[in-house]
Amino acid sequence: MTDKVNVAAVLPAPKADLVLQERPVSSPGPDEVLIRNHAIALNPIDWKRQELGLMVNSYPAGLGADLSGIVAEVGSSVTGFKPGDRVFGFGNWVSKGLDHVAYQAYTLVESASASLVPPSTSLLQAATLPTAIGTATMGLFSVLDLPRPGTAVTSSPLALRSILIWGGASTVASMAIQFARLAGLTVFTTASKKHHAYLRSLGASVVVDYNSPTAVEELVAAAASAGTEIAIALDCISLPHTLTPTIKVLSSFTGGGPKKLAHLVPWSPDFAKPDAGIEVEWVPGEDLWDEKEELLNWLLRESLPKWLEEGAVVPLQYRVIPGGLSGLQNGLNELKKGASGEKLVVEL
Ligand SMILES: NC(=O)c1ccc[n+]([C@@H]2O[C@H](COP(=O)([O-])OP(=O)(O)OC[C@H]3O[C@@H](n4cnc5c(N)ncnc54)[C@H](OP(=O)(O)O)[C@@H]3O)[C@@H](O)[C@H]2O)c1
Repeated sequence: MTDKVNVAAVLPAPKADLVLQERPVSSPGPDEVLIRNHAIALNPIDWKRQELGLMVNSYPAGLGADLSGIVAEVGSSVTGFKPGDRVFGFGNWVSKGLDHVAYQAYTLVESASASLVPPSTSLLQAATLPTAIGTATMGLFSVLDLPRPGTAVTSSPLALRSILIWGGASTVASMAIQFARLAGLTVFTTASKKHHAYLRSLGASVVVDYNSPTAVEELVAAAASAGTEIAIALDCISLPHTLTPTIKVLSSFTGGGPKKLAHLVPWSPDFAKPDAGIEVEWVPGEDLWDEKEELLNWLLRESLPKWLEEGAVVPLQYRVIPGGLSGLQNGLNELKKGASGEKLVVEL
């Protein structure tokens, strides 16, 4: 325990609004860093946990994964971080307790799940990164098993050069588009028209308006005129009305070989799985931080800092919700109604 004062926005009961509470600040374990949070970004899972009680074992419960701030203390075995460093990190709400969630002033983060923030990136920008980079990495380089940037595209069992990323303006997709482009793939995506220029700037080759009644035909035709076909897809919305067109695009691929669809939301039992020609698999984004040490190390130590420095990857667009920790509930209410091409962030 330290003498620092912590305030957390906690969920006192099922479906209740967040309330601010003083909490103790725990000292970091040997492999942990204690971060004084500067910014916290919101994710749809946060309001879903509040509303539906998903993965909440007891109350009061803590929410939030995405944070950035300043290292306040480091554990005895930690190398690579020191007090005063600017960092972002994944607040592990999945397998750890209240000390490890993001919605508070101080959070304990496994040092493996923290990363130094390059000088060119602000702490507000850095807070937009953890869930988006983690989920995009798990989707592309674990579930779809695509070759990582810098390796030959042909070494993948899905030795194809194109991917459909449905829902390009969602935060996970906006990062996945950048990673897929760095991996050498031609990226086809869908978004409402106002985001088309933005998504092209991230590296999408083709952006189709998902509101168009001919979106599937437009994607298939665009692939044909690019001299390719689409056999792999990451559906970043993963609801029946997005899975249906995504499956149609994959079904149009006649080139033989595997076809695969990665989805972010668990498959609804009421929605039929596609025929045997298309393999489907859920993306367990959080597993990166707990179970995929080598992949996490590749992302946070070898790749992302360099990409951010070089401008090869840009952080997500964001909007600050006023009020600091007190603003989190407003942010969740807004996110539940639907964000559009931006991460909602609070600044402490
Ligand atoms: N499995 C995992 O580990 C994992 C991890 C993170 C997130 N998720 C889940 O993945 C989903 C996306 O999360 P997120 O944070 O990336 O979402 P988000 O940024 O809140 O998504 C909002 C975006 O979705 C787009 N959208 C809505 N309906 C669409 C449609 N029919 N077709 C195409 N795009 C559509 C909108 O695009 P426009 O602005 O163009 O209208 C909007 O920009 C959520 O359900 C979340 O819970 C799962």
